[in-house]
Amino acid sequence: HEEITKVKNVNRIELGRNIIETWYFSPIPREFFPEGSVDVLYVSEFTLDMYRHKSELERHYRRCKIRHPPGDEIYRDDENKLSMFEVDGAKSKIYSQNLSYLAKFFLDHKTLHWDVDPFLFYVLCEYDEKGYHPVGYYSKEKYSEQGYNLACILTLPPYQRKGYGKFLISFSYELSKKEEKVGSPEKPLSDLGQLSYRSYWCHAVLEALLEMNNEAISVIDITKHTSIKTEDVVLALKFLGLTKCVNGRHVICVDENFLREKLKKFPLKGVRVDPERLHWAPLK
Ligand code: COA
Ligand code: NA
Repeated sequence: HEEITKVKNVNRIELGRNIIETWYFSPIPREFFPEGSVDVLYVSEFTLDMYRHKSELERHYRRCKIRHPPGDEIYRDDENKLSMFEVDGAKSKIYSQNLSYLAKFFLDHKTLHWDVDPFLFYVLCEYDEKGYHPVGYYSKEKYSEQGYNLACILTLPPYQRKGYGKFLISFSYELSKKEEKVGSPEKPLSDLGQLSYRSYWCHAVLEALLEMNNEAISVIDITKHTSIKTEDVVLALKFLGLTKCVNGRHVICVDENFLREKLKKFPLKGVRVDPERLHWAPLK
């Protein structure tokens, strides 16, 4: 694709209290970078509309009183001041397109889906008295033939390495559990995406094994418990060195001490998804 090889068109974006260095080119409308590139693009935290001048953004904030993403708040954690909104791409087209433009600044390889109608967007926000501040999101096809439960995932750079990526991944599997489906992320994953998923799968598989605490656990049992697709479970088991071949059959190690030792290497940093706080039912 042409856009992959293009040089960065925006150096930095101002979003809420952060000025964020971009990583890649994003195909935002040409009017935002008429000179070939711009230093700073000003982005509204609440509508994700873009402005070339700070004064325009300030005027927007004065006029527009919306302080959260469009859509339903489907998860709320008052202790950690975190909230998740479900945005329908068909109903909130401009917001969803803006979100995709924003994500592309941090995505190299991936062809983003620019037709937002078939997608839902799950926007994770930290909130305070000023409003709901987006820290990351993932997208999901409303109907995925391949069984994908996540299309694209982003944690904004100032919020990376705090566990929000794994929170979003974990959230995607919580929705799959409610749908009574097995899920997997859309391929290809970026290097960072791959690392995050592997780390999540290892953690979730170890936890499942400890919770099930049973002598004869199969891959299918783990899949049922976690909604993680069997191929991904097998990948994690192999990576963890938990499968052995005994008399020609694959056997999963369930030694509790060994599992606990391994779990220390794959902790879940940061905030966890509490299924009790999820208020959501699958599309019918
Ligand atoms: N270097 C090494 N390991 C990394 C890493 C880095 N820069 N970033 C993430 N990881 C690994 C680590 O194992 C990390 O767990 P740890 O911090 O406990 O060791 C794990 O991935 C996930 O960390 P977490 O803090 O939960 O994720 P995050 O909030 O940083 O978000 C992404 C992860 C992938 C969403 C984020 O890096 C991102 O938005 N990248 C750009 C967009 C992208 O590539 N998306 C995926 C393709 S669709
Ligand atoms: Na999907």
